[in-house]
Amino acid sequence: MCILGIETSCDETAVALVEEQKGKVHVRANLVASQIKLHRKTGGVVPEVAAREHVGKLRQLLDELDLAKNPPDAISVTRGPGLLTSLLVGTETARALAWVWGVPVLGINHLEGHIYAAFVSSGRVAWGVGQYVVDEALFQPRFPLLALIVSGGHTELVLMRRHFSYRILGETLDDAAGEAFDKVAKLLGLRYPGGPEIERVSRAGSPSRFSFPRPMQGSRDYNFSFAGLKTAVLYTVQREKSKARNKRFIADVAASFQAAVVDTLVKKTVRAARAFGVRTVVLGGGVAANTALRTSLDSALRALSPTPIFYVPPKAIAVDNALMIALAGLLRHRRGERGRWEDLRVDPSLRLSPAPLL
Ligand code: KG4
Ligand code: ZN
Repeated sequence: MCILGIETSCDETAVALVEEQKGKVHVRANLVASQIKLHRKTGGVVPEVAAREHVGKLRQLLDELDLAKNPPDAISVTRGPGLLTSLLVGTETARALAWVWGVPVLGINHLEGHIYAAFVSSGRVAWGVGQYVVDEALFQPRFPLLALIVSGGHTELVLMRRHFSYRILGETLDDAAGEAFDKVAKLLGLRYPGGPEIERVSRAGSPSRFSFPRPMQGSRDYNFSFAGLKTAVLYTVQREKSKARNKRFIADVAASFQAAVVDTLVKKTVRAARAFGVRTVVLGGGVAANTALRTSLDSALRALSPTPIFYVPPKAIAVDNALMIALAGLLRHRRGERGRWEDLRVDPSLRLSPAPLL
């Protein structure tokens, strides 16, 4: 059973190949062609530019997989949420391949991919080369499962009592966590994408120099808001204009901002984990690559009794990739889903829904 995953929802073109043999999942390939350098010039993603890039890059990556003589059993492709034109490149390619090879094509929610990515870890094989390993818990995680998805476009706390059934407990009311990282980085004169840059300069900074607000910390719901925090950073930078180029100042603002985001995310996640008595917590999305978030959430969850199992993917699998899309497709294929290429549709604002589709 071999699944080809395709991901083109934003600015990373990615393909992956996974194979299930006797209940074990093997990662045969996981390729990502990043467009970061291109989008640095504009300080963000220009949708038309991204889509045009996907066309050339996707072709190259698929050539590398060399599937013509050995097609997969099914194709799994992101159908939303994301940028319309970028999504179309992936889905149209998937439709064409499904037609040529005569195999099913499964349309996957990108956020579902970010959740299931958590079951990937970076194993080591005997000769010391890193290789991704998929935990068997992917098939049967201990439910209820709580997922915190933090990416450039989303911040969602999701409760799952079974596979493919998602109850959104809370989400951001304005900016997504990754978006806040990107915008604050821009304010500080750091380059795109801002998350990794904020994390890098934060290492030399003091997280307690500025006490930025922890938005909605007191609210009883599970929603988030990051726009006010971003504005607080803006005011600080404007007030201390003379220091705007000072390395120490930038490092301290970055570290204090990062601490505020991490604190907010961790507190609400832990509160939800306790309230719903979850047995598993997963962290996913690009911001899950942030070390401060990974370690703080891990230690906060350890303080719970009983302690939920915590899954977080390697950093390269936290950010966009096609391995996560292939895994979600593999799970859906196992339970009998068989999409037809004629029925595959993109949906730029696709949401996680409570009812499994089948
Ligand atoms: O999941 P992702 O790759 O793409 C979307 O689905 O949006 O997430 C990208 C986001 C960007 O906002 C980026 O700045 C953020 O993830 N990000 C990080 C880190 N690495 C990526 N944020 C904080 N710390 C990081 N190390
Ligand atoms: Zn993503």
